[in-house]
Amino acid sequence: MDVREAVATRFSCRAFLPTPISEATVRDILERAAHAPSGGNLQPWRVHALAGNKLEQLKALVRARPELLPRGEGTEYDIYPRDLKEPYETRRHQVGAALYRSIGVPREDRPGRYRQYARNFEFFGAPVGLLLSIDRGMGPPQWSDLGGYIQTVMLLARAHGLHSCGLESWTHWHKTVYSLLDIPSDYMLFCGLALGHADPDVPINQWRAPREPLDAFASFVGFNS
Ligand SMILES: Cc1cc2nc3c(=O)[nH]c(=O)nc-3n(C[C@H](O)[C@H](O)[C@H](O)COP(=O)(O)O)c2cc1C
Repeated sequence: MDVREAVATRFSCRAFLPTPISEATVRDILERAAHAPSGGNLQPWRVHALAGNKLEQLKALVRARPELLPRGEGTEYDIYPRDLKEPYETRRHQVGAALYRSIGVPREDRPGRYRQYARNFEFFGAPVGLLLSIDRGMGPPQWSDLGGYIQTVMLLARAHGLHSCGLESWTHWHKTVYSLLDIPSDYMLFCGLALGHADPDVPINQWRAPREPLDAFASFVGFNS
């Protein structure tokens, strides 16, 4: 698949088919993704790939404690800055509104929103769940490198006909993740990532998050046009 097609067809998939994915496929994606650049070649990523019983075990631990939603066990980092300023707050609001509109859940339907939110911790039905962590000693440049790795995973997934969704929401269950997986204590969970075949027919996969026009975020200086 052409890289432009991979970029254009990637979206945050929030409903997957149960079709299994082989370990060989996941290994191929994760290994190739390590070709992503990182400052000083630190390669500051750590991945735990879960499928089958282990994935079910993790999901069951969260499912057993619905009374803790939405805060779960609290977070180890602020997912968004406190007092998110404009234009970011509006963008965040708009994408949330589009998501809930697509599944017919009105803003005031809190139980309906919690039900959808709980799907994050089912990896939206994906057969593979990745958990990405980083050494706690790393700073913003290395977190950025981890983001580059994650994006490369997402694009390579497209080359296999697969889709994905990043899941920062898993930081709300970091203690549960640490209790189940051998993540060293000097590592911090950043996010989960759902990986699988998209369910193409469901409304939640039908809408797309908008983007700002190029000239709103890019400046061009000194070109001979
Ligand atoms: C690191 C990362 C974490 C994310 N965490 C979540 C999440 O917890 N739940 C969710 O529904 N979407 C999550 N998303 C998806 C974003 O909402 C999505 O990327 C954004 O709205 C743009 O939409 P698109 O990916 O469909 O283009 C995450 C994305 C990234 C990159």
